Amino acid sequence: MNEMAKSFMDPQSHHICGDYKVKMVINALPPNGGSGTFSYSKNSYFQKRSSSVEESKIEEEIQKKLDVEKLASASNMIIRVVDLGCATGPNTFTSAHNVLEAIKHKYQSQCPNSEITPEFHVFFNDLPSNDFNTLFTSLPQDRNYFASGVPGSFYSRLFPQSSIHFAYSTYALHFLSKSPEVVQEMNNPAWNKGRIHYTSASKEVVDAYATQFAKDAGSFLDARAMELVPGGMLVMVMQGVPNGMPYSDIINGTLFDCMGSILMELSKEGLFDESQVDSFNFPYYAPSPEEMTKVLEKNGRFSIERMELTDPAPWLKSMDQVIPEWIVHVRAAMEAIFTTQFGNEVTHEMFQRLTKQMLDKCDLLETKYRDKIQFFVVLKKKE
Ligand SMILES: C[S@@+](CC[C@H](N)C(=O)[O-])C[C@H]1O[C@@H](n2cnc3c(N)ncnc32)[C@H](O)[C@@H]1O
Repeated sequence: MNEMAKSFMDPQSHHICGDYKVKMVINALPPNGGSGTFSYSKNSYFQKRSSSVEESKIEEEIQKKLDVEKLASASNMIIRVVDLGCATGPNTFTSAHNVLEAIKHKYQSQCPNSEITPEFHVFFNDLPSNDFNTLFTSLPQDRNYFASGVPGSFYSRLFPQSSIHFAYSTYALHFLSKSPEVVQEMNNPAWNKGRIHYTSASKEVVDAYATQFAKDAGSFLDARAMELVPGGMLVMVMQGVPNGMPYSDIINGTLFDCMGSILMELSKEGLFDESQVDSFNFPYYAPSPEEMTKVLEKNGRFSIERMELTDPAPWLKSMDQVIPEWIVHVRAAMEAIFTTQFGNEVTHEMFQRLTKQMLDKCDLLETKYRDKIQFFVVLKKKE
């Protein structure tokens, strides 16, 4: 633990005080930067393959429902696009390319004789602690858009009113703004002792996470409703679960359960105090269609153009093919949040044991549900 963190310790409980802890966790959410062995830029092709399942559907929705001619002519022929939770690349560049191509095609089909085409401005958003240097230095040389980085949480406002035409987010919105406070309170019925997530936890813990998701998704939609122009489009690709399905029924549930039990094992081996597991809860939530519909209806400023759960890995035949690579991907995406709480040594050991445990559990993983666990949502800002 660093010196600054120590200075925020509550002397009675030896726990880090509330607000500071929330900030530490949020700062640690971006994936590993740079281009080293465990970097996101080298270990994010699973996310790419999974979001590419939705690629042709996004093109279809743009072609059918985005009035590019109208949007461009109302904005001096400039189309503004944002990727919310872009990380370091390269996935974000592929997504930007595909979205822009689809918007261009739509414009050409609407205005086949036009001599001018819209100019594109792409905003790359992530938390301020994201490795924007790696992002900027790897921007495609031959891009045909203006690029800007936008540091800040997508759970608050990032852009001026009615300035964005197309916003999308892939594999980011399942990260909550924070873990719910009650799951960390020792005397609360929702105290999540000995676990790091709501998988296999009590109903109180699951409810607390669900409440946090509803709050965060509400803030996200409120901000985007302000920023998108009427008729603008918002696409979300993220983890989800079928209505009523507990998270432990899906593969990622086993992953969080194993992480928690390995950390408990390491604390019992004397590497750190068990209370560090009790006070750590991973801010990650996969909503159901029912939950998603509820937050969308509450916001009321978007029409739901398409909402479905899809199979993120139709190509995956058996789990044992991919476990070691998958765990490196998980490490690239999530390592920092663990090192912030448990330090480098424990985190490294946890990931080593995790690969082994997941390989040992291969037969169990094969029985887990993995068909409809990716949310694909297309919204349009009401006129
Ligand atoms: C797994 S990465 C996905 C990156 C990329 N979109 C992709 O599909 O490969 C999730 C990203 O979401 C970002 N993120 C999480 N919470 C965020 C927030 N509140 N505001 C902005 N970005 C956030 C993380 O920092 C991380 O870069």
